[in-house]
Amino acid sequence: MAVLGIETSCDETAVALYDGKQGLLGHRLFSQIEVHREYGGVVPELASRDHVRKAIPLIKGLLDETGMQRTDIEAIAYTAGPGLMGALMVGCAIGRSLAWALQIPAIAVHHMEGHLLAPALETPAPDFPFVALLVSGGHTQLVDVRAVGDYRLLGDTLDDAAGEAFDKTAKMLGLPYPGGPELARLALQGVAGRFRFPRPMTDRPGMDFSFSGLKTFALNTLQKHPQADLQTKADIALAFEVAVAETLVIKCRRALQATSAGALVLAGGVSANQRLRERMRKMADTESARLFYPRTEFCTDNGAMIAYAGYQRLRAGQHSDLGFQPKARWPLDELPPA
Ligand code: KG4
Ligand code: ZN
Repeated sequence: MAVLGIETSCDETAVALYDGKQGLLGHRLFSQIEVHREYGGVVPELASRDHVRKAIPLIKGLLDETGMQRTDIEAIAYTAGPGLMGALMVGCAIGRSLAWALQIPAIAVHHMEGHLLAPALETPAPDFPFVALLVSGGHTQLVDVRAVGDYRLLGDTLDDAAGEAFDKTAKMLGLPYPGGPELARLALQGVAGRFRFPRPMTDRPGMDFSFSGLKTFALNTLQKHPQADLQTKADIALAFEVAVAETLVIKCRRALQATSAGALVLAGGVSANQRLRERMRKMADTESARLFYPRTEFCTDNGAMIAYAGYQRLRAGQHSDLGFQPKARWPLDELPPA
């Protein structure tokens, strides 16, 4: 018996099977990078259409690979928000229909709860309470996590999310979509110290973020170097990446001190960033806090985190009405306790 997870909130169609006793049984993902690349970003309508094409074949492939029958599925967890409305509706319609046909519960999963719990798919898994830094393309949030569903927002971004700032700056540097990992790769060739970017909102108390100024700073720097060669671009990429990482580190230190939590969890696409992980590791060591993050493929969107979050809700006796409507916007702290 297992929970089938379905993720279609943005540009990845992903499915997974999670079993309470055996753990993760399998997962499959189809990335739409090639679909969107020529447009330099995600085209929502194309994303929805591709989810329609890929979701069922991925589920069939996953069942074959794991040797499971449809009747072995105990519940269906699908991402119900936040995300692109059309894309969410595809996963929602498939998840609800399958649940109805199989006469099993459907669970509407919050995408960011999926990210937040993803480190628990690894060994060792973090124990509650912990501070979570959620850094993705759409979110930058610091959360005081006491238990599944017990989330207190400590800080949020006032404008761009960290991943969004990575993507926009990468675009300015002429890098293809998705920009974050491309910028990180270019930054590896950068010379430290040639440029210095600000650390936004670190000179005042609080745990909120603002990343749109960094993007403007990158634009201004590029305008001062109209014939920027690859080395100059790499130097800018490095200065930008260091500024984002240090800003996140400063706020995470504050969150650890404010909550006296002994553990920090990094999750969401930007938590795949090596420089961020290294700097967080140093800070966590000085704060005597344990650091957790998922394996790289579970930092970015995936089905495993949705199956796992759904399993946690199911275990708490919760499921969703088959009329549940997806939500493009959905504050994390509106979730009920498990
Ligand atoms: O969690 P995710 O897959 O999707 C959302 O829920 O948004 O996060 C995607 C974001 C993108 O902005 C992408 O550029 C960024 O994560 N990202 C990275 C890295 N890998 C993915 N940013 C910086 N460094 C990386 N290595
Ligand atoms: Zn995500």
